[in-house]
Amino acid sequence: MKKFKAVAVVGARPQFVKAAALHAAWSRSTLSKRLSLVWAHTGQHYDYKMSKVFFDELNIPEPRYNLKVGSGSHGAQTALMLERLEDVFIKEKPDVVIVFGDTNSTLAGALAAAKLNVPVAHVEAGLRSGNRAMPEEVNRIATDGLSSLLFCPTEAAVGHLEREGVRKGVHRVGDVMADILRHYEHSIAARRASEPYYLATIHRNVNTDDPARLKRIFRALASLDRKVFMPLHPRTAKKLDAIHGLRLEVLKTGRIEIVEPLPYLKMLAAEKSAAGIVTDSGGVQKEAFLLGVPCVTLREETEWTETLAAGGNTLCEPDAKKIVAAFRKLSKRGRRTGKLYGRGDASEQILKEIVRFLDRGGKS
Ligand code: UD1
Repeated sequence: MKKFKAVAVVGARPQFVKAAALHAAWSRSTLSKRLSLVWAHTGQHYDYKMSKVFFDELNIPEPRYNLKVGSGSHGAQTALMLERLEDVFIKEKPDVVIVFGDTNSTLAGALAAAKLNVPVAHVEAGLRSGNRAMPEEVNRIATDGLSSLLFCPTEAAVGHLEREGVRKGVHRVGDVMADILRHYEHSIAARRASEPYYLATIHRNVNTDDPARLKRIFRALASLDRKVFMPLHPRTAKKLDAIHGLRLEVLKTGRIEIVEPLPYLKMLAAEKSAAGIVTDSGGVQKEAFLLGVPCVTLREETEWTETLAAGGNTLCEPDAKKIVAAFRKLSKRGRRTGKLYGRGDASEQILKEIVRFLDRGGKS
């Protein structure tokens, strides 16, 4: 039987978690004899706590390529990735390129592959927030447009693609982040805390790049009815420090404990033990839902609309009273189950479909 090669592109923190799910499924599967997997890391995230720690903890192999692209404006960062990934694809001659999620690394991987006529498989296809001002939304739309295989985590994602006229190559497989969460859920220790707390994470441009809004967010978090534990993304740390006196003001209240970004299992422990989660992250909204922890999302829209419909998550303004009121409503609804995100075998299905697609000569 013919053997195939895939290059899988990662670059930013949430992609390492998704990579861990796919790699674990691949290592267990007999399909690893049919499909070799080469990992390429763009280097979009480069701090130890944003990158390497995930590879160590989640047993992801050292990527064959680290393209060390680092930070930059969206255009410059994506352009550098495009150039370096093109070299990788020319050298490796993959039969398919796998990309994950909606970051600049996703878009660069898809575009570089498509230009070389290499089919693209998009993991987490079909998500839409409806807000094109988000860089992630632009990345999603463009990547889906370039993909031959579109692996959707939810029914809603399939619906978005259908409305855009895309049916070919679309597979609803469930969510790879739910796969990996299920795998580790029973080994998550409780986070020890002296009193009930809220967990908060903030990093979206829409929240960090407007100083007035960022100020509102920190002030709201410092005025909640419980203390806040906050692993801080480097983007948010930079923006916080750029606002004169804000970090000191926050520290003085004694209501927010700011820590460095956490590794995966510690983050899950902090999520699971929290009385509630305040976030703008897509992955954290989903994890909150799967762990049955009420979630308040500080955004005007979300891609994970099923968490809203199921009553586990709500959109809210950065206002302490509104956040507390939102938690009161949510917490009455009890623990949610995670069937909306598949049966925990999304990664296996993805590998099967990729091999089936390649066996048919690259036809969906
Ligand atoms: C990126 C993704 C976002 C994802 C997020 C997860 C895009 C457009 N956005 O946003 O969808 O939810 O990752 O974290 O791709 N920085 C460091 N150290 C690092 C990484 C970044 O200091 O290891 C700093 C950069 O210098 C920059 C800022 O953080 O100032 C933003 O980094 P960048 O990778 O461009 O985007 P994220 O905000 O992390």
